[in-house]
Amino acid sequence: MISRPLLAPATIDAADLVLRPFVEADEPAVAAAMRDPGILRWAAGLAVLDAPEAERGRRWLGPRITGWEDGTAALAVTDAADGTVVGAVSVRDVNRIPDQAVMAYWVSPRFRGRGIAPRALDAVARWAFTPTNGGGLGLHRLNLYHAVVNTGSCRVAVKAGFRMEVTMREEFVDPTGQRYDSHLHARLATDPRPEISPPVDPRHAANR
Ligand SMILES: CC(C)(COP(=O)(O)OP(=O)(O)OC[C@H]1O[C@@H](n2cnc3c(N)ncnc32)[C@H](O)[C@@H]1OP(=O)(O)O)[C@@H](O)C(=O)NCCC(=O)NCCS
Repeated sequence: MISRPLLAPATIDAADLVLRPFVEADEPAVAAAMRDPGILRWAAGLAVLDAPEAERGRRWLGPRITGWEDGTAALAVTDAADGTVVGAVSVRDVNRIPDQAVMAYWVSPRFRGRGIAPRALDAVARWAFTPTNGGGLGLHRLNLYHAVVNTGSCRVAVKAGFRMEVTMREEFVDPTGQRYDSHLHARLATDPRPEISPPVDPRHAANR
């Protein structure tokens, strides 16, 4: 059996966003996100989809709260001004392959179109590359997978400095059982830091 590291829960400041470990009180925000068809299709996972609708928030949240004990650093993306949970970025399978991990993310529908996902992803990547004695995870390579048809996710990955490396044939199976080709993107600790636009004023953001 692979032994997974105990990770030290961290909080990351990123301009208008604060990323911090999930807590039980986030359940209503997570439950609302788990009603979004895009999140359910691309980011929730089969364990959530198998749960009754009323249980989906708790089903997603539980393993993200305890994940720090076994190799998953799951961070709530919150609005620095008022603490609202706007999304999530997870670093999973930390050191399952030495110095590597896998990124996943979602943004709740009403907060989309403001560039939140690329900024949150970049902030978590920089933290994950920070040496452990500096409070980070000390990783060298971060992988990210998305269905090729999920073009929004592809844009997010590229904007956050995750270069597209290869197309993986029929790698992703959606909740209906349909298979999709996926892109493998990755960012290395040694890659240049991406230039990311500053926060978008929510009054000018287009909702998706
Ligand atoms: C994908 C997702 C994370 C984007 O979050 P976001 O904070 O709205 O992202 P942004 O506002 O920065 O948009 C990022 C880029 O993607 C583009 N984009 C976003 N949604 C898009 C869509 N549905 N179709 C095409 N392009 C899209 C934006 O135009 C932007 O590119 P641009 O800067 O060149 O205009 C969000 O839509 C989401 O949570 N989707 C469901 C879950 C999911 O797919 N997670 C990823 C699983 S791999």
